[in-house]
Amino acid sequence: ETLNPQTTPLTGKNVIVTAGGTRERIDPVRFITNDSSGKMGYAIAEEMAQRGADVTLISAPTKLAPPAGVAMVDVLTTEDLADAVTSAFKQADILVMAAAVADFKPISSADQKIKKSADNDEMTIKLTKTADILKRVAQMKRPGQLTVGFAAETQNLLDNAQKKLISKQLDLLIANDVSKPGVGFNGDTNQVTILQPDQAPIKTTLADKHVIAKQVVDQISQRVQKEG
Ligand code: CTP
Ligand code: CA
Repeated sequence: ETLNPQTTPLTGKNVIVTAGGTRERIDPVRFITNDSSGKMGYAIAEEMAQRGADVTLISAPTKLAPPAGVAMVDVLTTEDLADAVTSAFKQADILVMAAAVADFKPISSADQKIKKSADNDEMTIKLTKTADILKRVAQMKRPGQLTVGFAAETQNLLDNAQKKLISKQLDLLIANDVSKPGVGFNGDTNQVTILQPDQAPIKTTLADKHVIAKQVVDQISQRVQKEG
C-alpha cells in the first residue's frame, strides 16, 4: 500500500459511524424527523478514513455527498438503523453514534394519506418509544470494542451527559449544548465537551465541524492506543 504509508492507531480498524436524523412515517406523504444535518457524523467518518480506518457510514437521510473512501449504508427509520448497527457492530472495533435518533414513532403508519375532517379542529398522533440503540449495543459489547455517543442538551449539559456516559456504557461521550448559537444541529460549526469515564471533561472552542471532528477522533485514537 503506497498511497497511505503512514500508520496511525486507527489504521485498519473497523469503524462504524452513524449520522443524520431518522425518519418515522405518519402516512405516505408525512413523517417525523429532526434538525440533524448529518454534518458532524460525516466529518467524523471522513477523518477516520483519512487516518486509515475501514469506515462504514450508516446514514439516515441528509443532503450531503458521501465522504471519500467510506462505505455507505442508507437507512430511514430508527428500526432500520438499529438493525444495521447491531449487525455491523459484531465485526466493529469502534462505533460512533452521531445519528439523531427519533425517540418516538407513530404507533402505526396510515396506508392512505390522512384526511382532515370538517367537524374536528384537533387531531392526535399516538407515539410509542423507539429502541435505544446504544443501550442495545451495550449488551453486546465485548472487551476492546469502543463505543462513542453524542448528547444533545438544552440544559444541565454536564449532568445529563455524565448520566448518558454511564447508562449507555460509553467510552466517550460528545456533549453539545444545542441551545447555544452555532452549536449542534444543522450549522457548519460546533462546540463540544468530550467526556470519558476516567478523565476530566475536555471542552473545545467553537469551530468548524471538520475541526471538531479532528479533536474528537484524536481522543478516540488516544484511547485505542492506550488500550492497544
Ligand atoms: N441514541 C440511540 N438510540 C435512541 C436514541 C438515542 O442510540 N433511540 C443515541 C444517540 O445516537 C446519541 C445518544 O444515544 O449518541 C444520546 O442521544 P440523546 O438524544 O442525546 O439522548 P437520549 O438517550 O435519547 O435521551 P434524551 O433525548 O431524553 O435526552
Ligand atoms: Ca433522544
